[in-house]
Amino acid sequence: MQAKDSTVYDCTIVELDRHHSERKGNISVVENRKTVPFDVKRVYYLYDVPGGESRGGHAHKALSQLIVAASGSFTVTLDDGSVRRTFTLNRPYQGLYIVPGIWRTLEDFSSGAVCMVLASEGYDEEDYIRDYEEFLVYKK
Ligand code: TYD
Repeated sequence: MQAKDSTVYDCTIVELDRHHSERKGNISVVENRKTVPFDVKRVYYLYDVPGGESRGGHAHKALSQLIVAASGSFTVTLDDGSVRRTFTLNRPYQGLYIVPGIWRTLEDFSSGAVCMVLASEGYDEEDYIRDYEEFLVYKK
């Protein structure tokens, strides 16, 4: 599928494998092509985001991502140029899979929230669309 044709309905919450130990806590696992349909080439995480601050505000032309609230909570609003969907992420054993060609905004970070992002490609500023009007033209 072309990124310009992707929709918010191509993006889904993925349940991660969870290994629970009564006394020792939990482990959640992400494996390439098993948990997500891409190979993870880069991991980054957002933290110390001040209350009321918003992140994102861009789309990617080629990048797929899995976003996990490793700690705390925040909301992710996805926008394909026609439809918006908002997800609250607040479980370390769930991830939001985002396909290319989707505008995203991250907001309402709780104190101490850690937003972990697993990405299909290395960092490339050329892959970003940072202007919303340009995004709408791209999706037409
Ligand atoms: P950006 O993706 O715009 O952050 P957000 O969407 O969370 O607001 O990234 C902010 C800056 O961080 C960007 O200008 C360059 C730097 N950066 C890297 O150098 N490598 C990376 O992998 C990422 C994600 C960001």
